[in-house]
Amino acid sequence: MRQYGREDLELLFRTADVMADRLQRAFLRRPLDGRIMMTAFFEPSTRTRLVHETAMLRLGGTVSGFADPSVTRAEGSTAESDEDILRMLDSYADVIVLRHPTTGRPAELAARLTGALLINGGDGTGEHPTQAMVDLYTLYRRFGSIDGLRLLLVNDLRMRCVNSLLLGLRNFDCEVSAVATDGMDRPEGEEADWASDGPPVTIGGSVVELLPKVDVLYSSPTVSLRSAAGDRTRPLTIDRRLLEEHAGRHLAVLHPLPRKGELATDVDDTPFNAYWAQATYGVAVRMALLTLMFDA
Ligand code: CP
Repeated sequence: MRQYGREDLELLFRTADVMADRLQRAFLRRPLDGRIMMTAFFEPSTRTRLVHETAMLRLGGTVSGFADPSVTRAEGSTAESDEDILRMLDSYADVIVLRHPTTGRPAELAARLTGALLINGGDGTGEHPTQAMVDLYTLYRRFGSIDGLRLLLVNDLRMRCVNSLLLGLRNFDCEVSAVATDGMDRPEGEEADWASDGPPVTIGGSVVELLPKVDVLYSSPTVSLRSAAGDRTRPLTIDRRLLEEHAGRHLAVLHPLPRKGELATDVDDTPFNAYWAQATYGVAVRMALLTLMFDA
């Protein structure tokens, strides 16, 4: 997300508006006709892989790739390196979407590509930049402006979606509070980097006391196996009762999904629910990103 400034993000939002409108009217140009996307997912995914493939297909491009490295030579007796695999995809495709378990690996591999563009689909505990673009676009659509918003981030603050969201938010004038679930705090020493790179973040406090004062409640997923406290960790559960008792009426709940116990399904049918719209905007935002990357 450090690659993108406010102007880039606002251009992305405007382009995503055009894409969302075209999707609604089933009017689609095919500016990426003849382009090929390869999805290289070394970790599981429901949304990120399929939404990039959907966006590419909607723009007239074609897609191939793998959702599981076990179908490649990466595993088993050959144990082909990720670098060699990416070298092959580089010669086949115009754009690669890569999800990788090692933090920083997409950037390292991108630097070695000679032809294809690379989109980071999530790396270890590093970043998930296109998720942050979707999160920011959702705020822009819901509130008209990101400036002036007060956000409360809860649950697993170590997640890559949180890192990227904070980096994205530094382009806007907003207030951020964060309350971690036990065992899901930022690793020691990272707060300084986080604070210097992003907006001022107030860490800790009572969710019940903060809730009436914020516009956005953002929960990260708690499905991570990286919990220091293991299965005994209990996340904050966002449910209808909590919101109706403590939140302002205009509050938007965002969640990048997948959800577990931290976001109850009884929120789905309330006006607080912004997360299904957020998931749906994923298509228009990736269409906008691809269109801009290819200058199409
Ligand atoms: N939000 C998100 O990254 O979901 P997936 O892990 O299913 O791609």
